[in-house]
Amino acid sequence: MAFNKKISFKHILNEVGTIRKAMDSEEMNRLLREIIGDYGADSTIHSGLNYEEIKTHLGPFTLDEPGGFTAVESAIRAYLETSVRTDHPGFLRAFWGGSEPASIVASLLSDIRNTTMHSFAVAPSATIVENEMIQAISKLAGFPGYGIFTTGGSNSNEMGFLCAREDALPGSSKSGIQNEKLCAFTSAEAHYSVDAAANMIGIGTDALIRIPCNNGKMNPIALNDAIIEAKEKGETPFIVLSTAGTTVRGEFDDLDAISDIAQAHGIWHHVDAAWGGAALFSKTHKSLLKGIERADSIAFDAHKMIGSSMVCSAFIVQDEKILPLTMAHTNRGDYLFDDPNREYNLGRISPQCGRRADALKLWLTWLDLGTRGIGEKVDSCIEVSRHLADLVSNNPKLSLISFSFSNVCIRFTPRNGETDEEGDLRIRRARNYLEDQAKSMVLDSILDNQLVIRFTASHPNVDKEATEEFLSNLIEADEKIYSDSLGAA
Ligand SMILES: Cc1ncc(COP(=O)(O)O)c(C=O)c1O
Repeated sequence: MAFNKKISFKHILNEVGTIRKAMDSEEMNRLLREIIGDYGADSTIHSGLNYEEIKTHLGPFTLDEPGGFTAVESAIRAYLETSVRTDHPGFLRAFWGGSEPASIVASLLSDIRNTTMHSFAVAPSATIVENEMIQAISKLAGFPGYGIFTTGGSNSNEMGFLCAREDALPGSSKSGIQNEKLCAFTSAEAHYSVDAAANMIGIGTDALIRIPCNNGKMNPIALNDAIIEAKEKGETPFIVLSTAGTTVRGEFDDLDAISDIAQAHGIWHHVDAAWGGAALFSKTHKSLLKGIERADSIAFDAHKMIGSSMVCSAFIVQDEKILPLTMAHTNRGDYLFDDPNREYNLGRISPQCGRRADALKLWLTWLDLGTRGIGEKVDSCIEVSRHLADLVSNNPKLSLISFSFSNVCIRFTPRNGETDEEGDLRIRRARNYLEDQAKSMVLDSILDNQLVIRFTASHPNVDKEATEEFLSNLIEADEKIYSDSLGAA
């Protein structure tokens, strides 16, 4: 049966029972109860965001003499009091929020058998779980079943760059890039982690060519032209990174069209599905990712809409051989890897040595909710966002700039004679006001050269009622700021 809040609490307490036995400590039990009891508690979204005030409340941070449970307990309490409640219905500024109870249990499970993923010998069951999760995600995406868990979507995109480099320049994991002038392509609306990947693999961000979009989708004709132009200049195009679920607009690139172009030019196609990959679970919305099975690699985050806790991210590849080739430096890590189970050692295909058993979080979440339950969760997030988009469309005080997947971008309808800059300022002030007043936390971002509120529903506590409250708070904030400014003038 799926967790609801009451059931999940009981389940978690059972886990605590296990921990108590293992640690044989009443105090430990109390601490864990306190932490777990905080889940979903009714409270304000935050209790202040002033660095110095939080620091004063949180300390001390180190002690010369043992502080024991008393010190730990008061630190936990202070942490719970001062940290943002990402499970609050007003927490709307990220692609994640309060995580799934099953994933919280999985985190404890991972800690209790504290291990690292480099060798089968020290993580036999975790290695099998990771392999099975890679295969399960691959199956949803129409991939054969190879990949590795990473430190997040950014790292998965970087892995895409690394594999693409090795594919374009075989042996470059050893020889480096040498005299080639590699260049990469992505859309104008792709996430900044693509710049990070270009920086980190050593080609530099200038070698990343951003292709213009039509309504948030990379323009395939412009992509093709840019690849041809780069080749004519003597450069070596080696990867096109498309996005399935862009960060601000929630838009999906045309993956088939981009695969056609990448294949025609013989370059790697990586899909950043860190945000939109969750739609693979949904019968209704899976078609957003049409064509993903033709890509060479995928970034997939289970710590976003699926609700596994931070971090739980996978890099999935088509070709079984590319990861061992790209990570060929691990051939030198023989002190770890030369053991009877060498073939199962995941450290051989990961850039990390120490690596947490993150796949457990997706495993238990998947067992708890099932593919159907996760799919319904995705459907519900999109449905809630649609409700908000409808409310915005029908409200003369607001303008709907875009709605795609679970992302809704909003502006205030301009007042008489209002400039674009003044419109931007209204957005920024209203957003800051809502955050200051701990009413809701939402992001603002530039879209088509103007500042918008970017709303997203990514966790189950954001329901239709929460969107209604958010909108009335937003309008109220704008009106209050305006009337205060008139009063001050
Ligand atoms: C489209 C996209 N790709 C990648 C990332 C980076 O993911 P992570 O935070 O897991 O590194 C994000 C983060 O929001 C994103 O929106």
